[in-house]
Amino acid sequence: MAVKKKVRWQDYFPNCFKPEGPKPDPKKSVLKQQASFQRISLSDLSSSTVLSEDLSASLVGSNLHVFTLQELKVITQNFSPSNFLGEGGFGPVYKGFVDDKLKAGLKAQPVAVKLLDLDGSQGHREWLTEVIYLGQLRHPNLVKLIGYCCEEEHRLLVYEYMARGSLENQLFRRFSVSLPWPTRMKIAIGAAKGLAFLHEAEKPVIFRDFKASNILLDSDFTAKLSDFGLAKDGPEGDDTHVSTRVMGTQGYAAPEYILTGHLTAASDVYSFGVLLLELLTGRKSLDKTRSQREQNLAEWARPMLKSPRKFGRIIDPRLEGQYSELGVQKAAELAYHCLSHRPKLRPIISEVIKVLEPLKDLEDLQIGTFVFAVSTDSDNSSKEIAKKKELHHHRNRPSEGAKSPLSFTENARQHDHSKGSYSPANYRLKRS
Ligand SMILES: Nc1ncnc2c1ncn2[C@@H]1O[C@H](COP(=O)(O)OP(=O)(O)OP(=O)(O)O)[C@@H](O)[C@H]1O
Ligand SMILES: [Mg+2]
Repeated sequence: MAVKKKVRWQDYFPNCFKPEGPKPDPKKSVLKQQASFQRISLSDLSSSTVLSEDLSASLVGSNLHVFTLQELKVITQNFSPSNFLGEGGFGPVYKGFVDDKLKAGLKAQPVAVKLLDLDGSQGHREWLTEVIYLGQLRHPNLVKLIGYCCEEEHRLLVYEYMARGSLENQLFRRFSVSLPWPTRMKIAIGAAKGLAFLHEAEKPVIFRDFKASNILLDSDFTAKLSDFGLAKDGPEGDDTHVSTRVMGTQGYAAPEYILTGHLTAASDVYSFGVLLLELLTGRKSLDKTRSQREQNLAEWARPMLKSPRKFGRIIDPRLEGQYSELGVQKAAELAYHCLSHRPKLRPIISEVIKVLEPLKDLEDLQIGTFVFAVSTDSDNSSKEIAKKKELHHHRNRPSEGAKSPLSFTENARQHDHSKGSYSPANYRLKRS
């Protein structure tokens, strides 16, 4: 039986580590041999904390570019607050622009640079997981990793820039323009295709952190999955699940995963069901501002999904009644099955796509429905008073009543400066 040779981090990132012994011969690099045959996983690597000043080599066997910290400072105008795009658990994200003057072979394009917050909860491991997965997995519904920087303690990631930012911002930001129904379906299908690519890979991957903030949107609302920091290789051989420490996001994580730590592709499908509910209701998966009963969207809404009459009352009022009734009914049924407490009863993701695909073309959009929402002071929930003015069902008419995605402007997406105490200096960047 062939013995699997352990690959060391140093073999991947010679620029991040001081060689422990004699310099490895790059021609004999295990990574190089393996990369051309099969995807490398994190478990193939053993850890090392030795850092290196040598920043010259690139990740062998992938198209990733290796950037210096100085280069990334230049392209983001020294991580200027005016380039700030947002911030998550990893750290802040800035817009920049690259071209082949910066690095030969680099297409001129805007990029998003994610900077590890050295005082934050994430670190080298999440950074490495992202580089390993996204460096090797390429698909139109996964955000493209262009390169990385690994310099002393600094860890940065450079992605293609997604003009409309995260779905979370588009759906829930206060002054964002409401997403029309067909666009919501397009996003759900795109995100499902991203998941299907992962679940159906030769060496399957479980995404584990599927949620609205990890779905980024292109200028034409193509959805792309981002953030592979928690991704995990799926079970192999006869194994039915992988056991992990429970990680993910409250409100999206599957109940059996929370209880047992058993992770399967069905856990991602549950999270997909939660996302579908968010798209249908415009409510957040977890909303502490609502009454106790309504805080967890999936638990509260699931019993209503089977009854079109009941569910009709919780459809996003911001859709202003402009949606396909049949489409909503089918999507609600699908969400119901994805949210089953028994993982085996959930559809696999390719079945999800089969159900969703036809929904984007349904033309029974309701036109002219007039809905307005009144907010109460006691809780943030909206009491929808739907005044149906001239409710028509134009079954064979194109969706002219719906807002065209093209009518959205870039300005609809505003950068979140709400975490106002931001200062680049907070991130202990070494300034040269
Ligand atoms: N490639 C990108 N293009 C454009 N904007 C981006 C890109 N990546 C991230 N952003 C912006 O930066 C914000 C923060 O992203 P990030 O993935 O770090 O955190 P998050 O998803 O909000 O939270 P979490 O840490 O829980 O995943 C996003 O909400 C988005 O607005
Ligand atoms: Mg994210």
